[in-house]
Amino acid sequence: MYSNPNGASDRARVPQKVTAPELSARKVRDGGRPISMVTAYDFTMARLMDEGGIDAVLVGDSLGMVVQGLANTLPVTLDEICYHGRAVARGLQRAHLVGDLTFMSYQASITQAIESAGKLVKEGGFESVKLEGGQEVAESVRRIVMAGIPVMGHIGLTPQSVHAFGGFKVQGKGDRAADKVLEDARALAEAGAYAIVLEAIPPDLAARITAELEIPTIGIGAGPSCDGQVLVSTDLLGMSRGHSPKFAKHFAQLGDAIVDAVRSYVGEVEGGTFPGPEHTYKANGVRGIAPVTGVEDQPPIGLRH
Ligand code: KIV
Repeated sequence: MYSNPNGASDRARVPQKVTAPELSARKVRDGGRPISMVTAYDFTMARLMDEGGIDAVLVGDSLGMVVQGLANTLPVTLDEICYHGRAVARGLQRAHLVGDLTFMSYQASITQAIESAGKLVKEGGFESVKLEGGQEVAESVRRIVMAGIPVMGHIGLTPQSVHAFGGFKVQGKGDRAADKVLEDARALAEAGAYAIVLEAIPPDLAARITAELEIPTIGIGAGPSCDGQVLVSTDLLGMSRGHSPKFAKHFAQLGDAIVDAVRSYVGEVEGGTFPGPEHTYKANGVRGIAPVTGVEDQPPIGLRH
């Protein structure tokens, strides 16, 4: 334990950070409050999510699809996750920050997994890491946890295995497939994961896993029985265009709102009504230029706080 130079006076104002052990204790059947988690990739969105009271923010490798416009998550690199992690970390006061281990940053060996997890913490500002897979990554999970880094598991539809699955398909359908997902969940819990994301599996299977495990499950397309839910932020906010998965409820229609706002802006620029006097600095009174009245001198928006 060390003294914190930013300590005492800040403590009154800054909300307590949500920690991995706190999240791990949030089993709904034991009276725990359901966990809310969302992805974010930049400072502005992270700050808004934190203000909205989210428990955990994930810098997911979904950034390949929603930020970079790729067809899948496979090309995303650890350096990219770290870059976005640093921006997101600056926006969070309360929410726990989770970083995704990217495709081929942990599958090659246990040593590679520990080093990659360490990089996320040291260079990305992450407080825990998430990786995909079950029994086959359990030993890596155990060793990352032993290194002092909390690990969130991710099973079911694991997007890094998109080619092995033959597409983004619901997993755990049928008895044998369901048993495999259940065994994966058991292996991760036994290895010391503090929570597990269950993606795109039948709701009765998710309910069974949730009932059996002592650690929380966080569902995405896994029904209502999980101990928490996670959504990709652009889905939650209704910013995606084209197809979005059945489970992706849009809690707002920001995509349409943005398009409307941009159309209005284009219209006003083309019509000469923007900027008006209220968006214009007072003139100097330079000879020949009439001063604009009723305008407060304000710094540009980016400099206001
Ligand atoms: O990358 C991601 O955003 C994820 C969530 C969908 C859980 O893994």
